Amino acid sequence: MPMRAHVGDQLIVESPTTGATRRDGEIVGVHHNDGTPPYDVRWSDSGRVSLVFPGPDAHIHHTGHPADMAPGAPAPRTATEARASARPLPDAEVTALARDAAAAPSMHNAQPWRFRYFRGKRLFHVTADLARTLPHSDSDLRALHLGCGAALMNLRVAAAHSGRHPTTELLPDPDDPTLLAAVSLTSPLSDEDGPSGLYPAIHARHTSRSPFTETEIPESVRTTLREAAGAEGVSLSFASGWHLQTVLDLALEAEARNLTDHGSAEDLTHWTQLSAQTPRSATEGVPPYAFGPRRRGGKAPMRDFAGGQPVPGRESADFESSPQLALLATPGDRPKDWLRAGQAMERVLLTATLEGLSSSFVTQALEWPDLRWPLRDPVAGAGHVHMVLRLGYGPPGPRTPRRPTRHILDIVP
Ligand SMILES: Cc1cc2nc3c(=O)[nH]c(=O)nc-3n(C[C@H](O)[C@H](O)[C@H](O)COP(=O)(O)O)c2cc1C
Repeated sequence: MPMRAHVGDQLIVESPTTGATRRDGEIVGVHHNDGTPPYDVRWSDSGRVSLVFPGPDAHIHHTGHPADMAPGAPAPRTATEARASARPLPDAEVTALARDAAAAPSMHNAQPWRFRYFRGKRLFHVTADLARTLPHSDSDLRALHLGCGAALMNLRVAAAHSGRHPTTELLPDPDDPTLLAAVSLTSPLSDEDGPSGLYPAIHARHTSRSPFTETEIPESVRTTLREAAGAEGVSLSFASGWHLQTVLDLALEAEARNLTDHGSAEDLTHWTQLSAQTPRSATEGVPPYAFGPRRRGGKAPMRDFAGGQPVPGRESADFESSPQLALLATPGDRPKDWLRAGQAMERVLLTATLEGLSSSFVTQALEWPDLRWPLRDPVAGAGHVHMVLRLGYGPPGPRTPRRPTRHILDIVP
């Protein structure tokens, strides 16, 4: 008799020799109306979801959805349909969601976020970690909000990928500006924009500070990226002509200021793992292997994480002469706008990763108030620019460290 299952049932895989349970997980997706395999299974040991074609060593433990079990009833295809969403999330899944969120980019890899999960309410709080600010380069906390917004986007993508239908409220407590977002996992509605498809990019995206080729990003891909930002209410525009030249000039000016500015240098030294004397653990900051080569030629404006100091083994290289820079902007310039821009930034980066693009950031000019305003594109709109992304075809960047999940996640009843 063919195997049949409903969403919410358990898949149990036993050892063929001892009969002991080797692995088990919750079925969160059924691909055929009659309940036959394959299934999307969320494994209890890792919290990850994978597509499974059960072998002879697997069997189903029916957890009982009487209405759904009626003979001839179509098997529900989603966790929501099966009412499985009413069940508590295993801690392993909550931990996996926080780990996915923390794969987000953050300025100088400061990782200025914390997560609290309320089991009973099935609710995540994303909060700002004010012990991880950059006092000189980010005194108004815009970059902190951008990084936390990116982590929030990853959380939404990962939750949607697990069939959890997240609903997000930004800055839900007017008395607590460090509570950046509340993400409820109980909504019966699916996310119409379908960010779950971006999940494979979460751990594949890395900042690449290598030269890119001169190959132009096709218009169809640019449109897809604009739509990704637009889905978060943020505009993305590619700089061209004299505007591109202005953005490049402003980045160069800012980089020159940074190299001689005591405060910027302090932030950089604090967060770069340049030497054995730098008291940084291996779980945060930008390690030298991620600095990329020193720029010998080309126009791509690269931040020099070495601050002009020699790094053993670091090479020089020519960068692209026509960098492809995209600007993210919103009409407003408040913390909510920064959180929206952060989510849009990550949505664009994940989409770009799936499109085979590499990416890095050009934010030097955003750190100087007098250089930030002239960055805007007067043709596409007079919005406030929050991020400049460098996109193109080139080597992917290396994976950089992240703090252990137990340091960033609290699970409370
Ligand atoms: C708001 C913000 C500003 C950033 N500014 C720069 C920058 O100017 N230059 C750069 O090379 N990387 C920049 N980054 C990238 C971070 O250094 C990077 O995300 C971090 O080191 C983690 O590495 P990953 O992106 O590979 O995960 C920025 C990231 C964020 C979120």
